[in-house]
Amino acid sequence: MLIYGKEVAAKTLEKITVETQEFCQRYGRKPTLAVIIVGEDPASQTYVRNKINGCKQVGFNSLSYEYADGTPQDEIIAQIKSLAEDQSVDGILVQLPLPKGYDEEKILANIPDSKDVDGFNASNIGCLCLNRPRTVSCTPLGVMHMLDHTGVDLTGKHAVVLGRSNTVGKPMAMLLLNANCTVTVCHSKTKNMAELTKQADILVVAIGKPKFVTADMVKDGAIVIDVGINRVDGKLCGDVDFDSVAPKTSFISPVPGGVGPMTISMLLFNTLMSAKSRENER
Ligand code: GUN
Repeated sequence: MLIYGKEVAAKTLEKITVETQEFCQRYGRKPTLAVIIVGEDPASQTYVRNKINGCKQVGFNSLSYEYADGTPQDEIIAQIKSLAEDQSVDGILVQLPLPKGYDEEKILANIPDSKDVDGFNASNIGCLCLNRPRTVSCTPLGVMHMLDHTGVDLTGKHAVVLGRSNTVGKPMAMLLLNANCTVTVCHSKTKNMAELTKQADILVVAIGKPKFVTADMVKDGAIVIDVGINRVDGKLCGDVDFDSVAPKTSFISPVPGGVGPMTISMLLFNTLMSAKSRENER
């Protein structure tokens, strides 16, 4: 069966829209997301456009800041500091990856925890590791919602995560562990990867290689979630060879229309949560 993230996300967006109307009535302002993009990577530009459109769709205010590659890092940091001080801004997002030469860690460190709607800051990641989650990274959180949508009880299942990035692989492994899965993380230095993936009841693939996972790497009846977005010959495809793998699975997410829309709905969810908690702390 296919897990259409698009459909799961649509339900979340409806709820966010209603709650946003309530928020606006109660506090007399709209939740506000500030998005910063550096350089002209076409994929990043598309993601940012989708995020801004998502804001419009649910009734948020959005601010976007576009910088040319080569803009001094201090200028970008100064903008983040100003947004951090601005009481009307609830979330600050720096689209990743940044062009070569920028210090990602140093830049992100200027986003206060309360406005870190990507959940990338050390303290938000730390809270997730302690199983006291605050803001959780959007893509892994979206994958958990998709797994929830299958209705399958995750307790005791063997989940294998391909990829160990700070943005997807690591927080994904933590969420699955917190949901009582037995978790294996595979990465570029893993030996005999197929032996491990073949044991997976749940296989989450975020390795950034088109059609990397083939049918021989997947157990019959597995749930496969494909986080990859690759462009091959002008066409989008995931990290999973969908046509050969799909017949073996109980559930599989397609690309496009799978994880992508979930990421945006979770970003909007995180922004609304941030707006609410900032108002409650006033
Ligand atoms: N680049 C790819 N995915 C993401 C994401 O979820 N957030 C940000 N800021 N950049 C990304």
